[in-house]
Order: sequence, then structure tokens, then C-alpha cells
Amino acid sequence: MRRALMALPAILCLAGAGAADSAASQVARGAYIVNGVAGCGDCHTPHGPKGPIPGKALAGTALFLEPVHPMPVWADHAPRIAGLPDGYTKAQLATLLRTGRKPNGSEPKPPMPQYRMNAQDAAAVAAYLASLKR
Ligand code: HEC
Repeated sequence: MRRALMALPAILCLAGAGAADSAASQVARGAYIVNGVAGCGDCHTPHGPKGPIPGKALAGTALFLEPVHPMPVWADHAPRIAGLPDGYTKAQLATLLRTGRKPNGSEPKPPMPQYRMNAQDAAAVAAYLASLKR
């Protein structure tokens, strides 16, 4: 207990400096989710014979996936999401990733996955995508 109390002033000092750190770590977490977990680039990054085309990460592309069975609804293009998709705020993008709903209340067509991220992860992905150049 005594040791914990002695550490308190140091923790309080760090709290002031923490804002920039936490913004950077939010972006880093978003990068991890986008590139390491959710694979957004599998559909949103143009690919060539050697894989993702350098310099075009998340720039939007025609899809190379096709359904095995005919689907009533299927998108053949995934839009640019680097620098945020057209017409989206960070908050609207986070809502899409939490609820599966676009700002107008409709759902993106498959094969866009219906993500159900928690609020922190959705905000981190939005912060990361907003940090990328358009
Ligand atoms: C399996 C392919 C696939 C993956 C993986 C994928 N997307 Fe998509 N995404 C799509 C397609 C296809 C569309 C276009 C849907 C449409 O036209 O309705 C789309 C649309 C979107 C849109 C635009 C929605 C709108 O308003 O029309 C956003 C934003 C988006 N994706 C973000 C993401 C993010 C962020 C990730 C990763 C966390 C991701 N996507 C992963 C295929 C994918």
C-alpha cells in the first residue's frame, strides 16, 4: 500500500503527458487491427501478381473475389478507406464498425464483413485510417 501511494505523484505527472501518447497508441492499435487482424487490405487494397501494390494500401479496388453461388446482393468494388472513406467522419466510421450500419442506416453489401467491434477498437481503426494520406 505504502509503495503504491509513493508511486501516485509519478502517475499523476504522467497523466498530463499522456494525451499525445494515447493518441499515438490508439493509431498503433488501429494499424494492428486493420493490418494484423481484420485484413481490410485483402479487399480494399489493389493487388497485382506479386500481391498488394506498393503505395496503394487501402486505396480502393475492384474485387477479385466472386461468390461460388449466385448472391442476390454482392459488391464488385471496395472503396478507398485510407484517409477515411468519402463522406465519413471518424465517428460515423466507428459506428459502421460497431453496428454494421452506414450513416444512412443501410448495410454495406457483402463481402464487406459485418463487424461488431467494441467502441475502443472501432475508434482505434477510425483514428488509424484518418491518419493515412488520401
Ligand atoms: C472481404 C472483403 C472486405 C474486407 C475484409 C473489408 N471490406 Fe470494407 N468493403 C468491402 C466491399 C466489397 C465494400 C463495398 C460495399 C458496398 O458497395 O456496399 C466495402 C465497403 C466498406 C466501407 C464503405 C461503406 C459504405 O458506406 O459504402 C467502409 C468504410 C469499409 N468497407 C471499411 C472496412 C474496414 C475498416 C475494414 C477492416 C476492418 C474492411 N472494410 C474490410 C469489402 C471488404
